[in-house]
Amino acid sequence: MTQIKRIVILTGAGISAESGIDTFRAAGGLWEQHRVEDVATPEGFARNPDLVLGFYDMRRAALAHVAPNPAHAALARLQGEFAGDVLLVTQNVDDLHERGGSRQVLHMHGELKSALCLACEARSPWHAPMLDRPPCPVCAAPSLRPDVVWFGEMPYEMGRIYQALETCDLFVSIGTSGAVYPAAGFVEEARRAGARTLELNLEPSEGSHRFDESRLGPASVLVPAWVEEVLTTTS
Ligand code: OAD
Repeated sequence: MTQIKRIVILTGAGISAESGIDTFRAAGGLWEQHRVEDVATPEGFARNPDLVLGFYDMRRAALAHVAPNPAHAALARLQGEFAGDVLLVTQNVDDLHERGGSRQVLHMHGELKSALCLACEARSPWHAPMLDRPPCPVCAAPSLRPDVVWFGEMPYEMGRIYQALETCDLFVSIGTSGAVYPAAGFVEEARRAGARTLELNLEPSEGSHRFDESRLGPASVLVPAWVEEVLTTTS
């Protein structure tokens, strides 16, 4: 542990589960309640924009009723106190890492609290519903969509993420099923770079066998303990 200088962390829905946000693939999770093709593809949006805007309006509004948990706070602590580099990449579109104190977060699947204008392509901070077709703050066109990455679209910040994976010594995956690429392939990239790989998840994930080590349990317990371990063994 003393040699670690560069850490890349990938988080998924599991880190926000104990805050009260539904994961995607659990029994009763979001993808059992809604069809992916309807609410998370460009084709679904073209077919029924009201359904899609309403789905993300509901998820954005729900953020007002949840709070970060000790796992989010622990990662913010690590970012603040670790002597080397920590790149925090999340697949989550919630804002719990930021509200937990993290300053630098790469949202590779976008953010609920951001709007993308289909007319001028501007991205704007966004906190209100979109179902009533509000004007874009930049060009005034009533052409906003949620600034989230749908299936068939390119995730954000991939250049920066792969660059960090190529030079990291430790890759840690937290609360993600390993079911969706390209994020599910990050562990292989990190391994190719010679990094140690660690998974922190409630249960074995689809990609567990690719990690050097898997620790099983709730993120609110595992993540603060792991952060404490890193900070005490590298200081
Ligand atoms: P999933 O719902 O696929 O997986 C969540 C993972 O978190 C599972 O492996 C759970 O076992 C684990 N988990 C649940 N509760 C936990 C807890 N308290 N502590 C630790 N782990 C826990 O969610 P993601 O892997 O994030 O993409 O899904 C990846 C992508 O698929 C999402 O970003 C979304 C979705 O379709 C898009 O919409 C583009």
